[in-house]
Amino acid sequence: MYLVAILFTSLALTPLVLKTLFPYFWKDAFYLSDFVCILVKFVLRKRRKPLFMALDRFLEQSVAFPDRPFIVFENKTYSYLDTDKRSNKIANALQKHSGLRVGDPVALFMGNEPAFIFTWLALAKLGCPVAFLNYNIRSRSLLHCFNCCSAKVLIAAAELQEAVKEVLPSLKDQGVCIYLMAEHCDTPGIEVFSDQVENAPDTPLPRSLRSGVTFRSPAVYIYTSGTTGLPKAAVVNQNRLLTALAILDSMGARPGDVVYVNLPLYHTAGFLIGLIGSIETGSTIILRRKFSASQFWDDCRKYNVTVIQYIGEIMRYLCNTPKRENDRHHQVRLAIGNGVRAEIWREFLNRFGNIQVREFYASTEGNVGFINYTGKIGAIGRVNYLHRKLFPYALIKYDTEREEPIRDPSGLCVEASKGETGLLVSKITDMAPFLGYAKDRQQTEKKKLRDVLRKGDLYFNSGDLLKIDHDNFIYFQDRVGDTFRWKGENVATTEVADVLTLMDSVQEANVYGVQIPGHEGRVGMAAIAMKKGEAFDGSRTFSHVASYLPAYARPRFIRIQSQVEVTATFKQMKVKLVEEGFDPAHVTDPLYILQEKEQSYTQMNGQVYSSILSGYTKL
Ligand SMILES: *[C@@H]1O[C@H](CO)[C@@H](O)[C@H](O)[C@H]1NC(C)=O
Ligand SMILES: *[C@@H]1O[C@H](CO)[C@@H](O)[C@H](O)[C@H]1NC(C)=O
Repeated sequence: MYLVAILFTSLALTPLVLKTLFPYFWKDAFYLSDFVCILVKFVLRKRRKPLFMALDRFLEQSVAFPDRPFIVFENKTYSYLDTDKRSNKIANALQKHSGLRVGDPVALFMGNEPAFIFTWLALAKLGCPVAFLNYNIRSRSLLHCFNCCSAKVLIAAAELQEAVKEVLPSLKDQGVCIYLMAEHCDTPGIEVFSDQVENAPDTPLPRSLRSGVTFRSPAVYIYTSGTTGLPKAAVVNQNRLLTALAILDSMGARPGDVVYVNLPLYHTAGFLIGLIGSIETGSTIILRRKFSASQFWDDCRKYNVTVIQYIGEIMRYLCNTPKRENDRHHQVRLAIGNGVRAEIWREFLNRFGNIQVREFYASTEGNVGFINYTGKIGAIGRVNYLHRKLFPYALIKYDTEREEPIRDPSGLCVEASKGETGLLVSKITDMAPFLGYAKDRQQTEKKKLRDVLRKGDLYFNSGDLLKIDHDNFIYFQDRVGDTFRWKGENVATTEVADVLTLMDSVQEANVYGVQIPGHEGRVGMAAIAMKKGEAFDGSRTFSHVASYLPAYARPRFIRIQSQVEVTATFKQMKVKLVEEGFDPAHVTDPLYILQEKEQSYTQMNGQVYSSILSGYTKL
């Protein structure tokens, strides 16, 4: 009887006990069950015969909901069925004219427009992997990217004709067939393709065409810019595309959702998360040529958008637009992305209303990811036993000065303790493969780390510094390279940038470290853009910086740009700025140096510059 009573009370108490002893128990449990559901779905799909790929999910949806709008673009709406038929036309035309065979890679050079999606689907139906060329690149980098994927066919949008002409001789030398999605083009060597597509039948392509495609076959190539060198083509295979189906779903997107896709489709966020994710849920995509801060909310209102994506600086851009009365009139309920800083996120919510922010951590080529499922401010995720068993990862101690992991006397890496920042590495396994970069062994090898926790093991080096706290929350700290060391201290560039943008007059700031001969480490420098009508004030800036930052973290040099340059994914460009340094002979922007004695930033000139180089002026 006594025992029963104990059992009874303990059962009744369990939720309470759990809540106090393990405050995140239910959240962990829900996450775990979601995770398991997704895993089960994935495994079941992978067992299907014939093989079930991301394309098959699209075909499934277009049979189930033929009339549901799939793509809305510039006042045109294409249903799931329309999209299926359009892609059939392109596939049939390609089959007739190009002699493409299963497995032949094709490069697609096109902006965000429905034809991008139709063409990708068409090529998927033919079993051909597609390399998504960034439509902003030209000449040498265009050729470099094209050559990465060994394609013999290039499909380009009409408005990119001039860019194609520029590299035409090299392409012709390589015997590349070029199809331009246009009705006219006078240049010999470029075939116009619109008529062929219009005249082609919209009959479905036989499935047997892609019977040779396996989960290991490359599905698409996505170029990653990385911090150094030319872009690399990350291989996304069919298996990975199938996994990508789950992303939006796992973050709470539903069939009735309207997803706003304004990020480039040639990148992971736009393609894998926005497009592929919407196929899984059967959502509608509002497609835009590119991100526009001023149009953003008008579009959301006009199309009843419910899900938006953000990366890098996007939230800041939105917060920087002039305030409007209808800022909170919209139906957006979910914002999915990564790279938002805590203050911006707060400002965003204050201004645009109660939107769930789902921050996640992942990279195009990486083999581990985290989702912020607990709602803990600032955390990107949480250590989870099962997740970690399936995707073994570790945070290892990292030397930011020498830019390499710290190793113990036996040559193995050292795990960072709780609360300590470490480099995220994740074990390369069948379940968590690292597929590397097309035709770039060297860069692929550079991302691999051996002898990490045991002799002979192999890990993927994410290049990201993370921290796990005592409650098992995971925090993003920095990208390797986004910290620099100065006077023996680590300086986090994002932190300094945040301080600078706290000033009313500053629109944006990009912070980085530059080397000075004869000095260890790097000295801080900032490129800032002022708000409209604001001028740079050296002494005000000094007193602001001095009141927020320790001496070593204060940017020693500041250059004023009309706008802070960003990459196509809205990440700030640093490499060029670092190279240009603080030499007034090279930097044409107004350039200032911090003068401790004068309590101000003063104009930089050649004399000061040589005095620094000669070591006369001490930094
Ligand atoms: C958006 O929603 C409103 C109200 O629910 C509806 O009247 C309108 O037709 C919708 N607009 C679109 C483009 O679906
Ligand atoms: C995690 O999600 C919660 C709730 O949606 C949010 O408050 C928090 O800021 C998020 N963390 C990050 C880093 O976005």
